[in-house]
Amino acid sequence: QQSMGNSVDSNTLLYSVIGDPIRHSKSPVMMNRAFKETGINGIYTAFHIQSEQLGAFAAGIRAMGIRGVNVTIPHKLDIMAHLDEIDESARVIGAVNTIVNEDGKLIGYNTDGLGYVRSLKEEAEPHLAGRRILIVGAGGATRGILYALAKEGVGHVTIANRTVERAQELAAVFQGQADVRAIGTDELARACGEADIIINTTSVGMYPNVEATPLNADWLPSGAIASDLIYNPLKTRFLQEAEDRGLKIHGGLGMFIYQGAYAFEYWTGTAAPVQAMRQTVLEALG
Ligand code: ATR
Repeated sequence: QQSMGNSVDSNTLLYSVIGDPIRHSKSPVMMNRAFKETGINGIYTAFHIQSEQLGAFAAGIRAMGIRGVNVTIPHKLDIMAHLDEIDESARVIGAVNTIVNEDGKLIGYNTDGLGYVRSLKEEAEPHLAGRRILIVGAGGATRGILYALAKEGVGHVTIANRTVERAQELAAVFQGQADVRAIGTDELARACGEADIIINTTSVGMYPNVEATPLNADWLPSGAIASDLIYNPLKTRFLQEAEDRGLKIHGGLGMFIYQGAYAFEYWTGTAAPVQAMRQTVLEALG
């Protein structure tokens, strides 16, 4: 089923993203570009779904044969109750961001952490095995990243969090899969000095609070990589200060692109046109 661009006809397959809010999402422009670029006859829309409508939406996926769905805030946890199967990635992470509809069977995956690691490897550091990782933050995003980093065989992972109990809980969950320890932010200075890759997963520095930064840049060792999950702004203050001190930097846009690329590949079995997707998102961000 090839088509010229996104011309909708009787064979067009429907994909979508759901969230609340959703109108700010760059996923539709990115994914429609991917369908257009690969000549796959699919179209990708955004649905504003509120929590009370989640079950009805899941029934709608089945009834209308929507082929694939991306799930974003605040539904990544609650959607799981409405699916038929949860893939290992989503089970360990405890959240679903991608649904594949296989002949009426709804399977939940999580491509966030895998997307992050693919972007880190392609854009900053291809060799992750044995690397010492420092993650600042212990929220939902950290879980996905820990899952994917553990699969790469990284060395020690230190999770630093303002609320140290949350870091300890995460360390306990992933202890079997990686060498993980938890610290409070009071120990950040020393932990920075011992890290090869320092990753900010907190919202500190995100638009509009662009002057904020999660750590003191004087702690950053010059040979390390600084990575930030934030992509608005594309270069956070944390990354700017790290770059000024000679570190290699890695921004959050790649994670967004590659989580979408994995979803596209799960749905279509076709390699995602990553460069075109990135170009489209950069244009949409202005
Ligand atoms: P997500 O699912 O996007 O990771 P989250 O679960 O709300 O979001 O987690 C946000 C993370 O950013 C947490 O680690 C949070 O620290 P606490 O667990 O102590 O709340 C961290 N965070 C948010 N604002 C912060 C701030 N101003 N200073 C330090 N850490 C902050």
